[in-house]
Amino acid sequence: MDTLVVAKKNLSEKGFLDIETPNIDYVEEILKLKKEKNAVILAHYYQIDAIQQIADFVGDSLALAQQAAKTDADIIVFAGVHFMAETAKILNPTKKVLLPDLLAGCSLADSCPPEDFAAFKKKHPEHLVVTYINCSAEIKALSDYVCTSSNAKKIIESIPKEQPIIFAPDRNLGDYLNKETGREMLLWDGACMVHEAFSMEKLIDLYKENPDAEIIAHPESEAHLLKVAKYIGSTSGLLNHVKNSKNKKFIVATEAGILFQMSQENPDKEIIPAPAKENNTCACSECAYMKMNTMKKLYLCLQHELPNIEVAEELSKKAIIPIQRMLALSK
Ligand code: 13P
Ligand code: SF4
Repeated sequence: MDTLVVAKKNLSEKGFLDIETPNIDYVEEILKLKKEKNAVILAHYYQIDAIQQIADFVGDSLALAQQAAKTDADIIVFAGVHFMAETAKILNPTKKVLLPDLLAGCSLADSCPPEDFAAFKKKHPEHLVVTYINCSAEIKALSDYVCTSSNAKKIIESIPKEQPIIFAPDRNLGDYLNKETGREMLLWDGACMVHEAFSMEKLIDLYKENPDAEIIAHPESEAHLLKVAKYIGSTSGLLNHVKNSKNKKFIVATEAGILFQMSQENPDKEIIPAPAKENNTCACSECAYMKMNTMKKLYLCLQHELPNIEVAEELSKKAIIPIQRMLALSK
């Protein structure tokens, strides 16, 4: 049987088209295909360096959703994880949205199963639901507002103070937002394994060796780590902070992919990744899902326009409402 036919047959099991690509210059071919097909590549800061370099736009979750909402490309290649590509598809039901590896999921999205969440919501009928964009379309369809780490505080503060709120799925971000806004939002007990992988003990040792460094962190990190951080923000917030700060040394507690942009933008500054509990090759915390996308998978998905994201029409119509509310509040 033809290799493409076999690969298409195995797609749902493998998550990507598993085809040999001998002697291919991925950069050259991807650029050619992108032009031919009027495709745009949107990449998250946690992608591998080569993908960030070839992308048309690199950003955090909010900026990527905003780009997806306004693109005039015929095809969107989402170099990120499933919930991000799914959001892009919800915003562009008539466009083709490709994800290099369909199995590039998210531990945080997985920590909020729709059936359990629907039952939880039912128990609190007087609450509005604000969900972090890192969740499935089914959870978005159960939400009143979606938010990202860059606009969560603004979205929550747009809701009257006396209105009770359920915040899902990230307990760490929810706890941080409760402290920031003085609310007592009811929190879903979900978490991101990448941001809970940091070791406080190793971080303290690292700080002792680098007392001139500033600790900065993503709000998906645990409360004890956020307590020692001088600055807390989304990936783009962290990047802006490092660029605008007079400080020359930073210990950065988020996924290590961000170090590529951070170092490129600040060649004169020392950027040290916060250490993970487990010993690994990068001595940092990496998102295994984000790293499932490779140049080869990116090339193959653009060439064959597979795997692509589908969202059922009914579901999409419900899920777009809280996403559009978020976009309207984020202009
Ligand atoms: P932001 O892109 O909002 O910083 O979120 C980081 C993240 O964990 C994405 O999966
Ligand atoms: Fe999900 Fe965490 Fe990976 Fe982001 S870093 S995609 S929240 S598992």
